[in-house]
Amino acid sequence: MGSKNSFSIIFIILGLSALGFAALMGLLSSIVYIQPDFLKDIIPFNQLRPLHTTSAVSWIILTATGGIYYYLTKVEKVKLLFPLLGKLHLSIFILTGIGIYFSLASGNMGGREYLEYFPILTIPILLGWALFGVNYFGSMVKQVEKWPVYFWMWGTGIIFMIYHLSEAHFWIFSSIRSDFIKDISLQWKSYGSFVGSWNLLVYGTAIYLMTKIKGDDSIGRGKISFFFYFLGLTNLMFGWAHHTYIIPTQPWIRYVAYAVSMTEWIIFIHIVYHWKKSLSVEKIKINQMAYRFLIASDFWVFFNLTLALFMSIPSLNYYMHGTHITVAHSMGTTIGINTSILFASVSYIISDLLKNNKLNNNKIVTIGYYAFNGTLLLFLLVLLSSGVFKALWMVEHANASFGALQEASLPIYITFVFAGSALFAGLFMVIVPMVKYLLNFVYSDK
Ligand code: HEM
Repeated sequence: MGSKNSFSIIFIILGLSALGFAALMGLLSSIVYIQPDFLKDIIPFNQLRPLHTTSAVSWIILTATGGIYYYLTKVEKVKLLFPLLGKLHLSIFILTGIGIYFSLASGNMGGREYLEYFPILTIPILLGWALFGVNYFGSMVKQVEKWPVYFWMWGTGIIFMIYHLSEAHFWIFSSIRSDFIKDISLQWKSYGSFVGSWNLLVYGTAIYLMTKIKGDDSIGRGKISFFFYFLGLTNLMFGWAHHTYIIPTQPWIRYVAYAVSMTEWIIFIHIVYHWKKSLSVEKIKINQMAYRFLIASDFWVFFNLTLALFMSIPSLNYYMHGTHITVAHSMGTTIGINTSILFASVSYIISDLLKNNKLNNNKIVTIGYYAFNGTLLLFLLVLLSSGVFKALWMVEHANASFGALQEASLPIYITFVFAGSALFAGLFMVIVPMVKYLLNFVYSDK
């Protein structure tokens, strides 16, 4: 097994494995739509779903973290103040991960939605983040002056992650649990900010990659990038207001929140567009796959922006909420935007490690890239149709039973399973070769 800092690569291999597992659990969950008894006795939907979402979030967090460790140590040549803490961070996450999967698979849960695992496991996760924070700031403050925006994004992302992950568990205090409105507001607020924190890590990675691929530091130092950062921070602190539908608030608060998140996306589209226009063909060739995934992420930002615009129209929102349109929004952002940026990051790292063009010329990954994007579009369109169908059906059959709705939705659900299987195949065509390249490196890095 490798020695020299390959712990950052192991973070990424684990992240890619979590993505593969998430896709498998997602596919199994979708079969339950058409066959409600599917796997019921082995692993019911209320366990499959958290296995799916937890793995999806693990993919984002592990791969963003591994990337940051890699970029600092291998590309920026920053010496970690405490190299051992990085390995300890990895070990803690591996052990906690085993605990989480055990808790979800055995049905021994107890946590709230999206963090369903046994709540005590959050303590080692927080410890891992704290070690990451100490190492990050300890190493960077001394060795790097005048931080470009991505270093700020990563640093603040780590700090906010620690706070909001703790906040998502404040319900353990009875003073909060006993007040329904306070409890539910805090829960959804913390989720919005938790997502905002990982977005700082992921969007920071996107700007870092654009800077490195172009070989031009000005992207990370420009006013527009810093504006993007401050908007992201505002979104993280206040943007959750559009997640708290059930809570009585003034409508304008929700609209300001919507406006901030959408402006953030518009600026991201602008940054990527200008970067793309200013790149030479040679620079694109060297990092072809990373370039492609970044451009894809820009498309998915546009797609989600359009969807969010519709979702923010109050009369439409009333019908959309609780339908698959919201699921299309969550999966559209986590797969389309986050996953594309992270695939770009892994592609960049593999080309940097191998010092050759093998990944860029890999036919399976290239086909996988197109399959992933094409099938994701199909997948999201099916989810949207399912949502629109449900909304219209509910208006027409206000008194009908849930069973009748499920029966009427069967053709759409069958298409959903089909689209999910295609997306699954597309994802694996990218994941498997990437894991192979990384494993080869780890085993040869003696
Ligand atoms: C291989 C294809 C996939 C299929 C078939 C699939 C299927 C599903 C299903 C059936 C649900 C549950 C929806 C419900 O509660 O009714 C779900 C939720 C979710 N999935 Fe996927 N999924 C796939 C891939 C992914 C990937 C790759 C990610 C992220 C990287 C992801 C992120 C999510 C998230 C965040 C939710 C929660 C949605 C919400 O609560 O609004 N999925 N998925």
